[in-house]
Amino acid sequence: MTKNELIFNGNEKQVFSTDDPTRVIFRYKDVTTAYHGVKRARFAGKGALTNQISALLLGYLNDNGVETHYISTIDEREQLCRMIEIIPLEVVFHNRIAGSLASKLGVEDGMKPANTILDLCYNNDELGDPLINRDQAVALKLATYPELDLMYDIVRRSGKLLTDLLHKAGIELVDAKFEFGRAADTGAIIISDELSPDTCRMWDEETGERLDKDRFRLDLGDMVASYSIVLEKLKNVLETE
Ligand code: TMP
Repeated sequence: MTKNELIFNGNEKQVFSTDDPTRVIFRYKDVTTAYHGVKRARFAGKGALTNQISALLLGYLNDNGVETHYISTIDEREQLCRMIEIIPLEVVFHNRIAGSLASKLGVEDGMKPANTILDLCYNNDELGDPLINRDQAVALKLATYPELDLMYDIVRRSGKLLTDLLHKAGIELVDAKFEFGRAADTGAIIISDELSPDTCRMWDEETGERLDKDRFRLDLGDMVASYSIVLEKLKNVLETE
């Protein structure tokens, strides 16, 4: 597989085309951003950690009947993925109410809701990724109703699989953001972005310590050390799976 040109240069990742039109290469950067790019910093080794954690979580979903874009790991920073047509919607899965949802609802950060919450957001940086409802998403031709049903089903199944896996590793999955695309090889709707402490809140079950990007958002320090803990705990639990 030959790596060709840069086709997307994001805050935290780059995507390169390859000589196969159905395959791309994701490269994870050391840059971290928060609050839609307002806060930004570089942490040596962070890209290697998000690459590895994402590979383990996406690979776990692939192995358990949820299709994702992840195919294989190339090296410390890069992974081979399926090319997709982007669906500009995000579904955020909440086991707890934290972050912006806690502020919006005026409840304590980390409140346990009576049920799991799924939020549909319009993936649009200029608008700040606002909440959108199903009718609005269909009206803008972002997805069809059956596609939205499928995305919700994928998120419910993935949320449960990841919650249970992380629990075995002593980590609570607080929330997780999922992005989707239509796969270039089969046309299927698949998960098409990383899953890592950059895109999910993860708390140490014993200490309650935040092991995710909130360490950067809230200036708690030791972000790379926390991501390393997540990776080690995940590796340990997957070795025994
Ligand atoms: P929020 O509290 O900032 O709305 O985040 C909810 C979850 O979604 C959290 O796990 C972080 C993740 N997320 C991203 O991965 N990218 C984003 O741009 C935003 C806003 C949230």
